[in-house]
Amino acid sequence: MSELSVNHLLGIKYINEKDIQLIFETADHFKEVINRPIKKVPSLRDITIANLFFENSTRTRLSFELAEKRLSADVVNFSAASSSVKKGETLIDTVNNILAMKVDMVVMRHPNPGAGVFLSKHINASIVNAGDGAHEHPTQALLDSYSIRERLGDVAGKKVVIVGDILHSRVALSNIYALQLQGAEVMVCGPKTLIPKYIESLGVKVETNLKKALEWCDVANMLRVQNERMEISYFPSTREYTQQYGVTKSLLNNLSKEIVIMHPGPINRGVEITSEVADSNQAIILDQVQNGVAIRMAVIYLLASKIK
Ligand code: NCD
Repeated sequence: MSELSVNHLLGIKYINEKDIQLIFETADHFKEVINRPIKKVPSLRDITIANLFFENSTRTRLSFELAEKRLSADVVNFSAASSSVKKGETLIDTVNNILAMKVDMVVMRHPNPGAGVFLSKHINASIVNAGDGAHEHPTQALLDSYSIRERLGDVAGKKVVIVGDILHSRVALSNIYALQLQGAEVMVCGPKTLIPKYIESLGVKVETNLKKALEWCDVANMLRVQNERMEISYFPSTREYTQQYGVTKSLLNNLSKEIVIMHPGPINRGVEITSEVADSNQAIILDQVQNGVAIRMAVIYLLASKIK
């Protein structure tokens, strides 16, 4: 039977194309399960999972929790705001205390890049990175590619532009790795100040003109402007950002072909995307959310099968 090449999902950087295909095939099965009247399977009845969220999250956290519960795992939740982290406890101590309660898997979101890798070297549980600072967000990239595959039939050969705040985005880096592994072409588009200088060394195209980027692509993945990660101003005003980088229906209507619009959420309606675009048939934003549960079920199931 095929299995993943890794014991943890720390980032797309650490997995290969075969792993991605295995996750997608497994997700196809779980997607069918979650559309049944009885949405649960008993697969992980003997597995306990801790969701450790050291940073705010709504959809990712709910999505993981639903995925775990639909696999019948036992689930414990932890959020930094209400924990002893505020009392000065270290990350390893916090997690070791949780593991002493016999937890098999840890799903962690943390503001520090590399937090998952660090933890995987110090504790004896399977780790899933649910976002580490501005570094990686592997399950988001997997569900994004899975949603492209669902809408367009395949990821290979497609042209995908990631628009907006690339500099502060973990979604961008994980998507670049995942799309390239599957043979898609990637472009990033945004104000120069929000595009990291090293990005071209990853083999992605850079475009500062949104119209040209949209004309080039099959899919546009719109990122949120992450004000909470900005200590200085990267553009003159939100209004100016929207004028140059906001996707509107009239921009889309003037393209030579229909493109697919994605967004990882949360959306700033009227900033990076208008409501009209977000709610249109061209947008697959809610498909992404739905696919997120199936993808996370697949990742957890495949990692859990390596524990025993
Ligand atoms: C993203 C995140 O937290 O990295 N959201 C998500 O997980 N769906 C993107 C964002 O916060 O803009």
